[in-house]
Amino acid sequence: MEDPRISPVKPRLGREIILFLLPLQGHVTPMLQLANILYSRGFSITIVHTHFNSPKSSNYPHFNFQPIPDGLLEGQASTVDFVALLVLMNVTCVVPFRDCLSKLLSDASKDRIPCCLITDPVWHFTQAVADELNFPRMVLRTSSISSFLAFCALPLMQEKGYLPIQDSRLEEAVPELPPLKVKDLHVINSKDPEDVLRLIIAMAETMWASSGLIFNSFEELEPTKLAECRRGFPVPIFTVGPIHKLSAASSGSLFPQDRSCISWLDKQERPKSVLYVSFGSLSIVSEAQFLEIAWGLANSGQHFLWVVRPGSVRGSEWLEVLPSGFLEGLDGRGYIVKWAPQHGVLAHPAVGGFLTHNGWNSTLEAICEGVPMMCMPFHGDQRVNARYVNNEWRVGLHLEYKVERKEIEDAIRKLMASDEGEEMREKIKALKRKADESLQDGGSSCQSLQKLTEYLVSF
Ligand code: UDX
Repeated sequence: MEDPRISPVKPRLGREIILFLLPLQGHVTPMLQLANILYSRGFSITIVHTHFNSPKSSNYPHFNFQPIPDGLLEGQASTVDFVALLVLMNVTCVVPFRDCLSKLLSDASKDRIPCCLITDPVWHFTQAVADELNFPRMVLRTSSISSFLAFCALPLMQEKGYLPIQDSRLEEAVPELPPLKVKDLHVINSKDPEDVLRLIIAMAETMWASSGLIFNSFEELEPTKLAECRRGFPVPIFTVGPIHKLSAASSGSLFPQDRSCISWLDKQERPKSVLYVSFGSLSIVSEAQFLEIAWGLANSGQHFLWVVRPGSVRGSEWLEVLPSGFLEGLDGRGYIVKWAPQHGVLAHPAVGGFLTHNGWNSTLEAICEGVPMMCMPFHGDQRVNARYVNNEWRVGLHLEYKVERKEIEDAIRKLMASDEGEEMREKIKALKRKADESLQDGGSSCQSLQKLTEYLVSF
């Protein structure tokens, strides 16, 4: 049976939305989810994507997929320097994307009227292409509004001398960006730090020039930052999140999901007794950090489900760094997979906490399932999200960038088995209720989505 959330509940409008995927998991997922939502609102959907990290089109039989060459040479896509890769692709994709978009526009018919392009802001070159073809472009920013504004403030942070970060100033508050501390400022490692700033400036400028911004967030979660964003960006702004709650269940996962962990969770006797551990699709740890996490988990005495992505431990393929006998010593308390069906895991009654890197998707997914967090952010927006989780929403503990077994062990016990952990669980349940309400009829995200639909039809 077709999933009701993606069935064409409205008659086809004859209008088509063209969405261009940024080929990284944390960006692909919300873009495909937005596409599903727009499809359910009556739009036809065309997905333009690169060969690199192409989505599984068979999961979306209702979409038209248009692959384009990404111009990458062999080996370039396997870099861990994502900034350098994205800078490069903003050059190599220009011609293939322009050719693809102009063909889609010239092939328009009365049943298929392209009305808008939606891209990730990282694809900043697409604004010039859209302008050249006289076609509107909107932007889906997949991060939080707070981290987006902190991102835009990086040139100012440099001007004010906070960046590059000095060790002696790590604990200082940043009065321009409360509640952030200097150590939370977006650090994105790249061989050329100037690349990062250039990319940010190009993104912000082309967002200014776009026809509108869409955020995967909801008004009640970030009211002051949303107001600030509206003051700063003179274009229509829509908050339609949490997007995954409105979208179809079809998987945008770029990796095969190991569902055996759900059966393992089913066997757990006590509700909320398992800590789920995952650091998203990009984070990489050193061997030493990996061992600290492993011993922290083992010594905590709590049950845990741990996602260890192959290649996510520098220099190792998968689990070879674990000392022999480590897994047997857990006596069934731990389960490790390469990639999990995360939504199902977080929604499982046996899960009571989430040790996370605070990617925005993971953070929102935890809020939506009412699972309190233990924050171990690595880079970029994760640092801002973690500070908000800890200081602003108070629904998680912050490890303060200490990847040490004793800290991890103590924090796990606090989260899973103390009054403080219980308070966070209650707070995140209240936030979950706000998220649910925003999606209901008359709720802020529901209304914003209605306005977005009307706006798209108006082009
Ligand atoms: C990246 C950035 O790191 C993140 O900070 C930014 O906000 C978005 O882009 P990523 O690191 O992958 O994303 O983190 P996140 O945003 O949390 O996205 C990961 C997605 O993969 C989530 O939707 C999560 O549900 C999914 N996932 C993760 C799985 O389905 N299975 C897993 O085992 C792990």
